[in-house]
Amino acid sequence: MANRIATKKQLGGNNFMIDIETPSVADRLKPGQFVMLMIDDKSERIPMTVVEADPNGGTIKIIFQVVGKSTLQLSRFEPGDSIMECIGPLGRPTEIARFGRVICVSGGTGIACLLPIVRILNEVGNDVISIIGARTCSMLILENEITSACRENYIATDDGSKGKHGFVTDVLKDVIERYQNSGIDRVFTIGPPAMMKAVAEITKICAIKTIASLNAVMLDGTGMCGSCRVFVNGEMKLACIDGPEFDAHQVNFDDLISRLSMFQQKETHAYQCFKERKGSRI
Ligand code: FES
Repeated sequence: MANRIATKKQLGGNNFMIDIETPSVADRLKPGQFVMLMIDDKSERIPMTVVEADPNGGTIKIIFQVVGKSTLQLSRFEPGDSIMECIGPLGRPTEIARFGRVICVSGGTGIACLLPIVRILNEVGNDVISIIGARTCSMLILENEITSACRENYIATDDGSKGKHGFVTDVLKDVIERYQNSGIDRVFTIGPPAMMKAVAEITKICAIKTIASLNAVMLDGTGMCGSCRVFVNGEMKLACIDGPEFDAHQVNFDDLISRLSMFQQKETHAYQCFKERKGSRI
């Protein structure tokens, strides 16, 4: 059966990792691209970044956090169950080259999206330094995988339970200072928009080219609905087909943050209704 869940594992902090059997996606997917999942015939489509694709096994690996109705519903699927649709690969792949020294900054489930980019940047000969963060130690994902895919991996947690007590941006400032003489050639950032905005503000001052992967609101993922519009250098772009990656120094993050919050009330309502009907267990 198509889109069957092959494995499922619960990670810390309401994060889940699942492998989905979808050979045609696994065969073509490149770092930076994403898929849209439609869980059943009544659910919305949700964009999901992919941790890794296994073309031989025909599976893709996804990590998601339960934050609303759809992700709660998905968390209740078990190995052997099938998701109605898995559409992809979507979006433009990450531009990969031998840039030199690269810093990859990520937080929350954005780390899942960052991992394949860290791996390939390392494979093509970049000197890759990663900075990953979470609210607390138990919510930190893929620490070992990121550590083994780059030269140095720094950790920050908001509560100080692991690594630096503070934000990834605090670590970023330290790392930039340390390499100010030998230089940093590029920064990649993936995570909450407020975090990416803060990263962009720091790197803009230092004139380090920075790429951000935007988690815009998406309905169809194919450029038809316009819901994922973002403003880059004053121009409207569609994150699903023009992105999801853009020059972070040109992104209007305030507009992105405000558009994401527009749907918060409806999201919360749908989440509460689903929990009332189906129970609140995660
Ligand atoms: Fe509809 Fe991008 S998600 S246009």
